[in-house]
Amino acid sequence: MLKMLKMAVLVSGGGTNLQAILDAIREGRITNASVEVAISNNPGAYALKRAENCGVKAVCVSPASYKDRELYNEALVQTIQSYQVDLVVLAGCMVVMPKAMIEAYPNRIINIHPALIPSFCGTGFHGLHVHEEVLKRGVKVTGATVHFVDEGTDTGPIILQKAVDVQPDDTPETLQRRVMEQAEWQILPRAIDLIANGKVSVEQSKVVIKE
Ligand code: GAR
Repeated sequence: MLKMLKMAVLVSGGGTNLQAILDAIREGRITNASVEVAISNNPGAYALKRAENCGVKAVCVSPASYKDRELYNEALVQTIQSYQVDLVVLAGCMVVMPKAMIEAYPNRIINIHPALIPSFCGTGFHGLHVHEEVLKRGVKVTGATVHFVDEGTDTGPIILQKAVDVQPDDTPETLQRRVMEQAEWQILPRAIDLIANGKVSVEQSKVVIKE
């Protein structure tokens, strides 16, 4: 019998990926997993409302409430640890994970990135800016990636990816929406379901999926 996977979902903004996770749990597309808490760095994040609307505990740990980054990082790690979670999901979380988090949760933190890693990723590539850069470069295919988080930025083992076509008349906003609909909201819940059901392992820095 597999133990129920308890998750903390870290958010910063709209929370559509958090919503996709909560919907997938409700509809049985994610089994054997629960969201124990949603944590935002931003007190105004609509994601916190989404959590509350679904009966999930919503907490804000804001850098503005701490004297320095060190103290904020400590508070973030302690808050997550207090919920005794097995997996930390970065779902539109714009905070760089402190080293202490990576050490406390080795291959137990996953992130959704709105591009096909290793393209359009790394420091500075987040949110709408990723899609602006995709359009600037004129690539014809983009997509999304779910990966484990290591000490680097977007460098950890890749779990799932999905490609999305770029259309000639795309704006950053239309492209962002299509990448979310066709890729992010599908592969993030799918990756969680695979992890919750013991189908994901990391071997020699690469993810192996046993379906
Ligand atoms: C999503 O597109 C997510 O992939 C991206 O931010 C957006 C958050 O939307 N994450 C990153 O750029 C992380 N580097 P959401 O709050 O509606 O889920």
